[in-house]
Amino acid sequence: MTTSVPLTTGIPSWSGEEGVRRAHDLFLQAYAGPPDGVWAAPGRVNLIGEHLDYNGGPCLPIALPHRTYVALRRRADRTVRLASDDADPTRWEGTLDDIRPGGDIPSWVGYAAGPAWALAQQDATLGFAAALGGFDAAVVSCVPWGAGLSSSAAIECATALALDETYGLGLGDDATGRATLAAACVRAENEVVGAPTGGMDQAAALATREGHALLLDTLDGSVEQVPFDLGRVGLALLVIDTRAEHALVDGQYAARRAACEAVAAREGVPTLRELADPPAVLARLTDPVERRRVRHVVTEIDRVGEFVALLRADRYDALGPVLDASHASLRDDYEVSCPELDVAVETARAAGALGARMTGGGFGGSAIALAPTGRVEAIAAAVTDAYARRGWHAPRFLVALASAAGGRVDGRTDGAQR
Ligand code: GLA
Repeated sequence: MTTSVPLTTGIPSWSGEEGVRRAHDLFLQAYAGPPDGVWAAPGRVNLIGEHLDYNGGPCLPIALPHRTYVALRRRADRTVRLASDDADPTRWEGTLDDIRPGGDIPSWVGYAAGPAWALAQQDATLGFAAALGGFDAAVVSCVPWGAGLSSSAAIECATALALDETYGLGLGDDATGRATLAAACVRAENEVVGAPTGGMDQAAALATREGHALLLDTLDGSVEQVPFDLGRVGLALLVIDTRAEHALVDGQYAARRAACEAVAAREGVPTLRELADPPAVLARLTDPVERRRVRHVVTEIDRVGEFVALLRADRYDALGPVLDASHASLRDDYEVSCPELDVAVETARAAGALGARMTGGGFGGSAIALAPTGRVEAIAAAVTDAYARRGWHAPRFLVALASAAGGRVDGRTDGAQR
């Protein structure tokens, strides 16, 4: 299994064995008797294609070696018991009927148990609602929480894989079934937790392949595995967790989404990706905010194409400017960056990165910098200094290697998508 390149100040990822042991130990501590198994799903960073997954556009995430591990045992009744070592509260008990939109449950419980509700909503002919029962689960994670690295999707997808196998739904074994699991996890996040996110994070957790970036086309759900091996060309992808916390994040995300959907509706198309003539639409938009939002979407779609073409042509050296242009667009047109992200990106470039940009939803969270391997430590040190000078929280770092999708990890199967 892939592990992170050691970085002096890096956020450690657990080996598979360590994750299994921790999940197993917490399970034994919380409940009598062993779990049926342990499943895991990774966090992600998106290389390019930001805020496109709810606009029918493409995105290009890689899975991180950092994973959430869920030890789970099915039950004969409809009780759901959850244990975590660092959530608030650390224990929760209820029934499957408490897990629903509008239910009064902590958000981490919605992430962990929401997929059970969403799977039960699937077409009745599939029989999932009848098949699914209660469960006991212990959740542990080395995906940093709140860093914009999809810790929430990692919880959803690890539980979904666990429920799929323990209740014999048969979805985890092939790409089509996994797409159904991913869709259920999105639904859990949108409807049970109430976060109006797109589908990138769940696809990254369930459909990625080690050594590859996942080119996900959210218009038709199709995926392609694009080889992504920076080490071979002496480069590394440094992830900078700004540790910036921003208020109103959900409202801001929802507002961006609503602005895009409003323009698409006015233009008579389901998503901005389907605009017949984007330049003509841009020319006729009179509201400057709307014009900026749409311009980000339209130009970012082109940048994904450019980035993927460069990767396929082995032109890793030319990727930097595309990352830089994406950041400028997210900062100036989509307005989802923040001073901590901008300083991370600018400092990384000044210290030798070929290109850098914010990644994920924005308003805090993480940035990525593409850099010669020999510059990574110096870039991390420069960003740390820049933050210290401003009196900000010290940032955290990790070097991202494209890792495998989630699966069972306690030795009963190989734990990754076949
Ligand atoms: C968050 C959401 C994703 C996606 C990104 C922006 O990570 O969870 O669905 O919209 O923001 O690309």
